[in-house]
Amino acid sequence: MTTVKKTDSTSLDEARARAENLRTAIAYHNDRYNNLDSPEISDAEFDQLVRDLRQLETDFPDLIDETSPTQSVGATPGATFEAVRHRVPMTSLDNAMDSSELGAWGDRVARGLGGAEATFVCELKIDGLAMSLRYENGVMVQAATRGDGRVGEDVTPNVATVAAIPKTLPPGSPDVLEVRGEIYMPLASFEALNARAAAAGTQRFVNPRNAGAGSLRQKDPAVTASRELSFWSYQLGEVVGGPEFTSHHETLEYLRSLGFPVNPNIRQMATRDEVESYCFHWRDSRHELPYEIDGVVVKVDSLAQRETLGFTSKAPRWAIAFKFPPEERNTILRNIQVSVGRTGRATPFAVLEPVFVGGSTVSMATLHNQDQVRIKDVRPGDTVVVRKAGDVIPEVVGPVLSLRLPDSVPWEFPTTCSCPLQSTFLRVEGEADTRCVEPECPFQRDQRIIHFASRGGMDIEGMGERTVFALADKGLVRDYAGLYSLTVDDLLTLEGFGQISATNLFNAIQGSKDRPLPRLLVGLGIKNLGPSAAEALARAFGTLDAIIGASHADLATTEGVGGVIADKVVNWFSDPAHREIIERLRAGGVEFGNVVVSRLAQNLAGKAIVVTGGLEGFNREEAEAAIKDRGGKSPGSVSAKTFAVVVGNEPGASKLTKAEALGIPILDEAGFRFVLETGGLPPGSGESTGDAGDVPPSAE
Ligand code: IVH
Repeated sequence: MTTVKKTDSTSLDEARARAENLRTAIAYHNDRYNNLDSPEISDAEFDQLVRDLRQLETDFPDLIDETSPTQSVGATPGATFEAVRHRVPMTSLDNAMDSSELGAWGDRVARGLGGAEATFVCELKIDGLAMSLRYENGVMVQAATRGDGRVGEDVTPNVATVAAIPKTLPPGSPDVLEVRGEIYMPLASFEALNARAAAAGTQRFVNPRNAGAGSLRQKDPAVTASRELSFWSYQLGEVVGGPEFTSHHETLEYLRSLGFPVNPNIRQMATRDEVESYCFHWRDSRHELPYEIDGVVVKVDSLAQRETLGFTSKAPRWAIAFKFPPEERNTILRNIQVSVGRTGRATPFAVLEPVFVGGSTVSMATLHNQDQVRIKDVRPGDTVVVRKAGDVIPEVVGPVLSLRLPDSVPWEFPTTCSCPLQSTFLRVEGEADTRCVEPECPFQRDQRIIHFASRGGMDIEGMGERTVFALADKGLVRDYAGLYSLTVDDLLTLEGFGQISATNLFNAIQGSKDRPLPRLLVGLGIKNLGPSAAEALARAFGTLDAIIGASHADLATTEGVGGVIADKVVNWFSDPAHREIIERLRAGGVEFGNVVVSRLAQNLAGKAIVVTGGLEGFNREEAEAAIKDRGGKSPGSVSAKTFAVVVGNEPGASKLTKAEALGIPILDEAGFRFVLETGGLPPGSGESTGDAGDVPPSAE
């Protein structure tokens, strides 16, 4: 009997050949991911291979067979560890890539339950390694990886080194208890591990997931112990002699009562809308967590309903993984080039085969400096992992070494600048940066003007890179002071400029003359002088002339400035060429001092106060200004260094959770006023109000 379905141009033979190719590729990449902890393709590309195969099997049902990777999970375990047969299989999860696929799953659940209402438990999908922990008579006797779902690997001695995992259970625990969860490497451990690798000159780990999985599959448990892994439990396996449960959230509470770590962000959800909001919330807030997640797992709460829904061959019908858009992709590193900045710093950057990752197409990424290229050992022609996480700038994480071309050679930093002067590149011993040592280098000159006119500087609208290059090429400007001598007629000579655009740009230049002093200071391009130090100088001295006339000691003792910046400021203004530029700026009519000097006591100097949610007496800008006027900072996120978190109406949940977890004092508006007045904390607020680890799954 033949059930060939698809009748377009693809023949069954072609489809079979393609399915075979896909299966071979999937098996290969499964092995690299699960057994070698060294994937060659990103998770997103792997998922796509499986989806392509599934589509082919849907189109040509004759191709389905039970050994297909669409019907099983993971990889057959390797030979390094003893095999462990799972008494209750460790299944995988089906994926939903967007809200319509999530909705389709919700529909399937509703149909499967014959229209009965379901409630859900939403959990974070931890990007780690699935683990099954087996306890007999209250003692941990075995820890096994998932393997292919039926047979995993015995990694007990290694898992025994993970401090978060209980080794014994309280009296009265079940005769047999299997706990499933995810072993993961917290970001802090990952960063520390890579810092150690960099110091030792060894290859860095690409991401916490690979590092964590690699750390577990060590022959020597002492190595695992040094890697600071952790664990979240989320599911029961075999249980003999334990209590009866009717819902998933009860099992989680039970796990917590036995001493297992259960993630504090797990929530019960009554409706599909709430589920969707939870998914979107964590998609947008994933980077606020101190560990990596790659999605949300949605589970039907009622165990009776789970029974009704059952399993497919590889995954439960009662759960779905809502996957976040990928933040890591592989691509080809076409070349490494060097750009020269306004201070002469020569920065290597990667020219990439464009790749869509983290919500945008990435075709270039900085490689920072010579050492970074050497440490990462990326070479033109390599397949590289590119990561773009949230608002963070894209990064080339490292090469996929197994795909390196045989004739590849390490990249060498060029010895000369590619500018027309071909000036020398020099790296001073003990410094990370390589520099172009010719101050007249046209690349540097152009970048200084671009910086002066940029948003952070004098903010001259329309004076972007291209216009600056054109003005410099025509010899109309040789430094930024020259911008104020430009006439409309000069601007009219630029390609693409007409009367209106030239007049607009002329007006924008003229309009920038009375920018506040901190902007002018930033625009001058003094090394190390960023916006906050510029603001501190402007507040302390009031005018540019007062800063120029100030002694090194006066500058260095200004709060927020310090010795290093004072050195740079004194040096910069003592250069006759710079003094000449300053005089030309003055002659051009640029305002040298219009800043309101704060007369308030600087009682929050050095303190960071995070404000979240709405306050009665202050809008966001006012609250920030009140902190800054007293010398403090008001960053957008909570860290261990935060002095206090002020919480108003509808605060950001993640900021609050993080503050609680870190034990940062949490203040209401009255507490905020107290801090503003005194610089200290109100009595009784020195400790956090709760422990995030104790929050039960709730129907908030
Ligand atoms: S439940 C039968 N819950 O995701 C249900 N899995 O892609 C089995 N994972 O193999 C899994 N966080 O390694 C579940 N909160 C969570 C999870 C989670 C991460 C992993 C797990 C699983 C994989 C499926």
